[in-house]
Amino acid sequence: MASCQLALLFLSLFLFHQPLFCTANLHKINLLRPEIQTQQTLLNDTPPTVFFEVTKPIEIPKTSPCSHLILHHDFGYTYGKPPVLANYSPPSECPFQKFSKIVLEWKATCKGRQFDRIFGVWLGGVELLRSCTAEPTATGIVWTVEKDITKYYSLLLKNQTLAVYIGNLLDSTYTGIYHVDVTFHFYPANDYLNDFVQNGYDLASGYNFWADLILPISRNLPLKDGLWFEIENSTDSALKEFKIPKNVYRAVLEVYVSFHENDESWYSNLPNEYIVANNITDFPGNGPFREVVVSVDDEIVGAVWPFTVIFTGGVNPLLWRPITSIGSFNLPSYDIEITPLLGKILDGKIHTISFSVTNGLNVWLVDANLHLWLDRTCAKTEGRLYEHTSSPLDVSLVSNFNGPNGTSSTIVSRSVMSIGWVKSSYGNITTKSVQDLYYSNSMVLGSRGDMQIVKQIIHFNDTVHASMPSSSYAYLSKSKKTFSLYLDSNISSLGNGTSFYVANLTMGFKEKKYKDHGFGILKSSLENLQNGQGYMVVKKNLVVSGLGSTQQKYKYDGEKDCYFRNISSSNYTILYDKVRTACQKQTLLV
Ligand SMILES: *[C@@H]1O[C@H](CO)[C@@H](O)[C@H](O)[C@H]1NC(C)=O
Ligand SMILES: *[C@@H]1O[C@H](CO)[C@@H](O)[C@H](O)[C@H]1NC(C)=O
Ligand SMILES: *[C@@H]1O[C@H](CO)[C@@H](O)[C@H](O)[C@H]1NC(C)=O
Ligand SMILES: *[C@@H]1O[C@H](CO)[C@@H](O)[C@H](O)[C@H]1NC(C)=O
Ligand SMILES: *[C@@H]1O[C@H](CO)[C@@H](O)[C@H](O)[C@H]1NC(C)=O
Ligand SMILES: *[C@@H]1O[C@H](CO)[C@@H](O)[C@H](O)[C@H]1NC(C)=O
Ligand SMILES: *[C@@H]1O[C@H](CO)[C@@H](O)[C@H](O)[C@H]1NC(C)=O
Ligand SMILES: *[C@@H]1O[C@H](CO)[C@@H](O)[C@H](O)[C@H]1NC(C)=O
Ligand SMILES: *[C@@H]1O[C@H](CO)[C@@H](O)[C@H](O)[C@H]1NC(C)=O
Ligand SMILES: *[C@@H]1O[C@H](CO)[C@@H](O)[C@H](O)[C@H]1NC(C)=O
Ligand SMILES: *[C@@H]1O[C@H](CO)[C@@H](O)[C@H](O)[C@H]1NC(C)=O
Repeated sequence: MASCQLALLFLSLFLFHQPLFCTANLHKINLLRPEIQTQQTLLNDTPPTVFFEVTKPIEIPKTSPCSHLILHHDFGYTYGKPPVLANYSPPSECPFQKFSKIVLEWKATCKGRQFDRIFGVWLGGVELLRSCTAEPTATGIVWTVEKDITKYYSLLLKNQTLAVYIGNLLDSTYTGIYHVDVTFHFYPANDYLNDFVQNGYDLASGYNFWADLILPISRNLPLKDGLWFEIENSTDSALKEFKIPKNVYRAVLEVYVSFHENDESWYSNLPNEYIVANNITDFPGNGPFREVVVSVDDEIVGAVWPFTVIFTGGVNPLLWRPITSIGSFNLPSYDIEITPLLGKILDGKIHTISFSVTNGLNVWLVDANLHLWLDRTCAKTEGRLYEHTSSPLDVSLVSNFNGPNGTSSTIVSRSVMSIGWVKSSYGNITTKSVQDLYYSNSMVLGSRGDMQIVKQIIHFNDTVHASMPSSSYAYLSKSKKTFSLYLDSNISSLGNGTSFYVANLTMGFKEKKYKDHGFGILKSSLENLQNGQGYMVVKKNLVVSGLGSTQQKYKYDGEKDCYFRNISSSNYTILYDKVRTACQKQTLLV
């Protein structure tokens, strides 16, 4: 009964009793639950297709690493089962014991039919990777995700439990088993001090690149699910108690989020008034604005306005073969500097971190890692928060709905600012942390949502400034992110239960980073842009024909290294692929 040989694509209509796809199928544009198989006759020796996300390769030392296979597992029917666990111990038999780089490698193969599945990798409850699987084909696929996990250094020096959860489901139709290897590569530190200086170690302040202690803000094992919290609606929230040592002098909360089912394509969710006016029952609502609000002891300390990751089965799955969409194999995490608030939580008592999702619909998967830097010579630090403002959301909504046609415009902004000092053996450092967020979404709707154009942009500016008045010491870290999305889709009926879906999109992830350690400004700039055009003819839940074409431009300019890639694919074939690693002169002098 295994249906690997089927030449047609399938549309799944069971929505509610399925484990989480990365992609949900409630949304019209996501109606296709794809396992795309186009070859009629398959030879057993056809090599698997390599799927990949375009990203800058991790800078690694030339010396070969000490590599450890941490987990091998075949993820078959894992839905609703406990995460797969493995014991991790630090690589004590490596010839070197100081590392300049630690890389997690996720390598997976799959053959047959299967949906895209969301998954997570946790070490000691700390999330290391949030990702989406690729969708297999009958001839098989293989993909690799490499992630620099050096910032989790202190965690990697201790024995831990590794946990991996994929909510996969097998039956007579969906046969794809994910065969997974998780390997950690430890690269030697040839020049320990130099490596740290390069990584941003600041001798004067102890602003080490990596934290001394990382606390999981996730659910505790044992579980029959991922360690993430599930947030199901706008009033739901998730809460974790935590306690920090008394000698912390810096704290950063790293937040992981992903969105599924009714909110998978939150940026194109219809305004409720349009849904009511048109008696729409098959399209999720609450409008297109979402944010994950993060609070410490009921005080809002930051918000995440996430990048619009489109999973490997999203919009038109033919777009993502073999180039997958930005962030789909390595979802971005978001840092919130909470050092100014340390004065409120250094008392050795239990405090809480909580998450909620404004306008949220079922379901958001959220957790966080609390990175803590400890005073190496002092058992106690002290601090005080002296200014904290979290402006309420500023929302402006203009809409014009005239029957099945309409337009809406949503503009939202938020700002969170805190200033506080922490006195440690490194001095009395005052830290100011500011998050400025701006969101704009305009939507054009027709045919009761069958025709939709969404234009969205998010600006996310983060600034952390630390200073000691009595000395010239100052630390500045500034990041300006811009997430853009343009999605144009049209579904039309061709009669006889056949539909024609057209979708074009453009999305961009841009980030500029500014740093100043008192020795001048280090900068980096990233521009990652994807365009896609696709269509599909769907008859009685089967994709009869279709085409997806993708063009991507990835441009990173750092102080010391650059990476440029210009690549395109269409109908499973790479059309061109140009890579340049040499920096162009003066790219950063802007
Ligand atoms: C860590 O795990 C290893 C291997 O299981 C074991 O030999 C070692 O004693 C453990 N170390 C600690 C500190 O528990
Ligand atoms: C929101 O979700 C929570 C958790 O599932 C549930 O208890 C609550 O009833 C829901 N609230 C609404 C308004 O649906
Ligand atoms: C709304 O749609 C439902 C199901 O499609 C239908 O049963 C109902 O009659 C419709 N109501 C109106 C007011 O059109
Ligand atoms: C909706 O817009 C289309 C073209 O964009 C137009 O042909 C149609 O008449 C409009 N329908 C209504 C009810 O305004
Ligand atoms: C640390 O510096 C701040 C701001 O200059 C000051 O208000 C505070 O009293 C200082 N704390 C200590 C313990 O000296
Ligand atoms: C972010 O910074 C840029 C450049 O300084 C500025 O133009 C923009 O308005 C800022 N955005 C927000 C949301 O503050
Ligand atoms: C998608 O782009 C193609 C080519 O630019 C264009 O012909 C088509 O009309 C677009 N479709 C939609 C739904 O925007
Ligand atoms: C949507 O598709 C239908 C059928 O192909 C076409 O008639 C209509 O003009 C399209 N609408 C838009 C806005 O592209
Ligand atoms: C729809 O299907 C019926 C029966 O298969 C056929 O007679 C008819 O021509 C089809 N109509 C269209 C528009 O394809
Ligand atoms: C990428 O390559 C295509 C095809 O050669 C070319 O048309 C396009 O201008 C290139 N884009 C950039 C930014 O270099
Ligand atoms: C895509 O490629 C397949 C096989 O290589 C070919 O049969 C098909 O016609 C192509 N589709 C389009 C729309 O070009």
